[in-house]
Amino acid sequence: MKKILVTGGTGFIGSHTTVELQQKGYQVVIVDNLSNSSAEVLDNIAKITGVKPVFGKVDVADKQQLFDFLKQNPGIESVIHFAASKAVGESVQVPLKYYRNNINGLINILEAMKEFKISNLVFSSSCTVYGQPEKLPVTEQSPIQPALSPYGNTKQINEEIIRDFVKVNPDVHAIALRYFNPIGAHPSSLIGELPLGVPANLVPFITQTAAGIRQCLSVFGNDYDTPDGTPIRDYIDIIDLANAHIAAINRMEESKQKQNLEFFNIGTGNGLSVLQLIKAFEEATGVKLNYKIVGRREGDIEKVWADTSFANKELGWKAVVPLKETMLNAWNWQKSLMK
Ligand code: WQD
Repeated sequence: MKKILVTGGTGFIGSHTTVELQQKGYQVVIVDNLSNSSAEVLDNIAKITGVKPVFGKVDVADKQQLFDFLKQNPGIESVIHFAASKAVGESVQVPLKYYRNNINGLINILEAMKEFKISNLVFSSSCTVYGQPEKLPVTEQSPIQPALSPYGNTKQINEEIIRDFVKVNPDVHAIALRYFNPIGAHPSSLIGELPLGVPANLVPFITQTAAGIRQCLSVFGNDYDTPDGTPIRDYIDIIDLANAHIAAINRMEESKQKQNLEFFNIGTGNGLSVLQLIKAFEEATGVKLNYKIVGRREGDIEKVWADTSFANKELGWKAVVPLKETMLNAWNWQKSLMK
């Protein structure tokens, strides 16, 4: 059974990817410092798959901790690296935390790959590297724009670190997945997005408003150059996103890469406005949402959605979960948190 390390595996994307990996026969080893997630997620993963992942409470930005753990857990062939600080707004307030955590973490992972002969890396990158693209849909060749936040900058810097590293380490294979907007939850309602405090992202704010936890959703601006004036994003279901990681691992395991670092846009290829997403939620759940239009949010881009043809062709992967199902899964997950 192939053994795979998932860093940040008790987080939103990490936990859903762990479930899909276990269901496809991988032995998953998780390291997480639990700074933004709970160990209870491990029990819920076990409820879904019947297997509780091996777990180490490890801060990947601490090289000694990571290496000690890997010495105790030999035989890992691949690593999916999610562990990072990811709140865009917070990164503006405390940039050094983001640079130290996200960049040291990646460097330690790369050094561990050499030390412990881990061949394959999937790196959690983000469409944020494209900023506000000139041309849409955005492809992997679209220009990388100056980062709008320290968080986004750490993604760009980390992609370049990996590029320089694999250049002189041809035995290391890497794929960077540039996520668009991950949304939804597992159909079992046993795992999902667990934002700490007031949600920054749209869908958890929608579900908390629908649940009465928040009084009203503020729609940040309707004066953009879009059909209904609200910003457009490419919202991708969390299960589809999880499966893109497995497709990336398979590509490297089967030595199908054309070079030992590749980038893939992981989205649906469709853009949706904020108002369209609100409407989709209301139609899927039958819940009327209380929202109001307010001013723009600092740092928001106007519109972005992916050209996913490269991932469709080369990874043999595409997003398949219907938006209605995604909305229902998000709503059922929110309700499960209130039981
Ligand atoms: C989506 C749209 C808001 C909340 C961020 C990160 C990105 C990635 C995904 C990590 C925007 C609008 C939101 C609200 C609103 N994360 N909105 N009211 O900003 O596109 O992307 O999360 O990789 O890197 O930048 O996602 O969900 O915050 O916003 O109107 O209460 O919803 O203006 O148009 P975003 P988001």
